[in-house]
Amino acid sequence: MKFTAPKGTRDLLPPETAAWQRAEQLFASVCARFNYQEIRLPTFEQTELFQRGVGDTTDIVQKEMYTFLDKGGRSLTLRPEGTAGVVRSYIEQGMASWPSPVRLYYDITAFRYENVQKGRYREFHQFGCEAIGSNGPEVDAELISLLQMFFEELGLKETSLMINSIGCPACREAYYTVLREWLKPHLSQLCENCRDRYDRNPLRVLDCKEPGCQAITHNAPSQLDYLCDDCQAHFDGLRHQLDVLSLPYTIDHRIVRGLDYYTRTVFEFVSDHVGTQGTICGGGRYDGLIESMGGSSTPAIGFALGVERLMMELNAQGIKQPGLQIPALYIAIAGDGSDTARMVCRRLRKNGFQVETELMSRSLRAQMKYAGKSGAPYVMVIGDDEAESGIAQLRNMKDGSERTVKLDELEDALRQGITTT
Ligand code: HAM
Repeated sequence: MKFTAPKGTRDLLPPETAAWQRAEQLFASVCARFNYQEIRLPTFEQTELFQRGVGDTTDIVQKEMYTFLDKGGRSLTLRPEGTAGVVRSYIEQGMASWPSPVRLYYDITAFRYENVQKGRYREFHQFGCEAIGSNGPEVDAELISLLQMFFEELGLKETSLMINSIGCPACREAYYTVLREWLKPHLSQLCENCRDRYDRNPLRVLDCKEPGCQAITHNAPSQLDYLCDDCQAHFDGLRHQLDVLSLPYTIDHRIVRGLDYYTRTVFEFVSDHVGTQGTICGGGRYDGLIESMGGSSTPAIGFALGVERLMMELNAQGIKQPGLQIPALYIAIAGDGSDTARMVCRRLRKNGFQVETELMSRSLRAQMKYAGKSGAPYVMVIGDDEAESGIAQLRNMKDGSERTVKLDELEDALRQGITTT
């Protein structure tokens, strides 16, 4: 039997992992500058958490969850996203007593049983942030500015920020009535999913990716024309804050997001490069979620960014990614030099150098061939004489020059070599 990775999953191999590490480190660094702390949560949670948290009307809950019964008969689900778990933890761990807003970030795998296509996997990765406890548009703008700084430092260009407000439950009800009225004559032309959404959550019809539905809803009434005074003031406030921070944006009333918990601000960063899945990152406010999950009424906002899509975007934009880290030195072994070579190697590693020595018992010739291929800028042979005298020839692989160095002083020689080449 030939084993293959399950459909919708992928192996991440070097050197791609180096590019991922760079993105992960940069995300952590930007989050730290905005005073977001990391949260790590279980990969699976009670199924009901997602049913109630993400919402019964969503594609995620209806079709995409990896749900199973454990041996104790509990229904568990592999997390399809991070927000529901963060909210569960916020309530369970009493984070309401922490200084507000509570600012958390995460770097997680998530699981959705989706149709696999470019940029859409069944196991994928998200970087996310959640800011819990602040109502004002300043925190919305700050989160967007965190993302924009992350993209900028990664070297990403050509992404657009789309923003919208989907109001609060009060003004949304009024809008739903108007939207349903407007959609009614087109009902038979909408896709089956949208006919279902018409009753359950008509806002989601605007989000449908079917070209037929998109053509129909092109001129649909906008929630922005039906915002209550408070929601309008909040949205105006967000626009002002984005202007203050010089963050360009486009208002798109069709950005409604695919999860049920959103209120007021919703936003996405989109690009043309990630195939049909143009959304790299999506987020918004979820002012009612914490209360609906059993906590006290607490406003919150967050986003999640698809790491696979981010990496595709970086590649599509031709942004240079870090390659494999090449050893500074390869130590070839001759005769009885092995023990000395291994001791020197260990010392150099302890002192922070990436070095390699022979592990395949190859001939000296074969070792030199390997060293050439490895790309190491320096090579040294340690044999009987070198082991005895503590002195060896350090060969510069670029120009073929050699210099005599004491094994005890190799660190200095390498440091000098690295800074002068
Ligand atoms: P979401 O829009 O469902 O939001 O996912 C966020 C991002 O995850 C998407 O924009 C996309 O880049 C990536 N993504 C989603 N599904 C897949 C997939 N099957 N394969 C690859 N990438 C995917 C959320 O998950 C919310 N929890 C975001 C949030 C946090 N809102 C508030 N706080």
